[in-house]
Amino acid sequence: EERIAAIRGLPKVELHLHIEGAAPPAFIRGLAQEKNVRLDGVFDERGGYAFTDFVHFLSVYEAATSVLKSPEDYARLTTAVLEECAENGVVYAETFISPDFCGGGDVGAWQEYLHAIREASDRAETSLGITLRGIVTCVRHFGPETAKRSALCAAETAGDWIVGFGMGGDENQGKQRDFAYAFDMAREAGLRLTTHAGEWRGPREVEDAITDLRIERIGHGVRAYEDLALVDKLVENGIVLEVCPGSNVNLGVYPSLSRHPIERLRERGVKVTVSTDDPPFFHTTMADEYEALARTFGWDEEVFAEIARTSAEAAFCDEETRKAVM
Ligand code: ADE
Ligand code: ZN
Repeated sequence: EERIAAIRGLPKVELHLHIEGAAPPAFIRGLAQEKNVRLDGVFDERGGYAFTDFVHFLSVYEAATSVLKSPEDYARLTTAVLEECAENGVVYAETFISPDFCGGGDVGAWQEYLHAIREASDRAETSLGITLRGIVTCVRHFGPETAKRSALCAAETAGDWIVGFGMGGDENQGKQRDFAYAFDMAREAGLRLTTHAGEWRGPREVEDAITDLRIERIGHGVRAYEDLALVDKLVENGIVLEVCPGSNVNLGVYPSLSRHPIERLRERGVKVTVSTDDPPFFHTTMADEYEALARTFGWDEEVFAEIARTSAEAAFCDEETRKAVM
């Protein structure tokens, strides 16, 4: 148990964290009360988020997000999220932020939201010693035209804090290539790329992400394991997987952590990293993920050091930031 405590306390890097998905339920409840917004069907009796399956999760997520109405709300959210991350030993995190929720895709409004978020991030860096960077994210089920607006927002704010462009949302809608224009725009603006793939759909979706969007990291990607030739391609191309084991188990992608392919992917040479996705939704934290991996697969400090190294190398920040935090 001393061993587990040591593992929970290790310094961590988190690459896959949705900013609204990291909102503590009490924070969302508080904002709803302040603004007199009724949130029906968002919480269970114990005050946690309530949902039955992935599509329902997405709708509860969007309902909870609807109380975040101003740059100041996002600044407060950023502070709350970073406090939680820091408590879990996270020293560097990248978070997904959607212009769709921050100003409705309008570039000027987005810049105001981003400014507020960044100020909160800078304050947390000073007070908590945690570094945050942003990945502008389009939402797959909002469609390609909306994604282009997000990409434009991303391109207009690309720099030392907005370091990447990505896509989340319902993987069962449309195809990766429908979003190629948005990803091309972001790449041309100098942004690094990641997309959710191989969480709900199988290996072909992961292959499409590599071929059609030319991403260098994949959100989840775990179902690539169903095609070992593709797994070897991930290894050859050095594609990094942002694996969120607790999320996958909570949403029912796998029945238990022992059946999750993270260890088999790692053993085959894939660059795997560990994140929480939407921690309060899935009743997890980075320390919980580390503990579960140590207990289930016997991961020791050496394995976690390898995970930290892989994560640091795969981070989208500049070299100077990487050296300063890791
Ligand atoms: N948005 C927030 N969490 C997500 C997930 N696990 N998959 C896709 N989109 C998401
Ligand atoms: Zn995600």
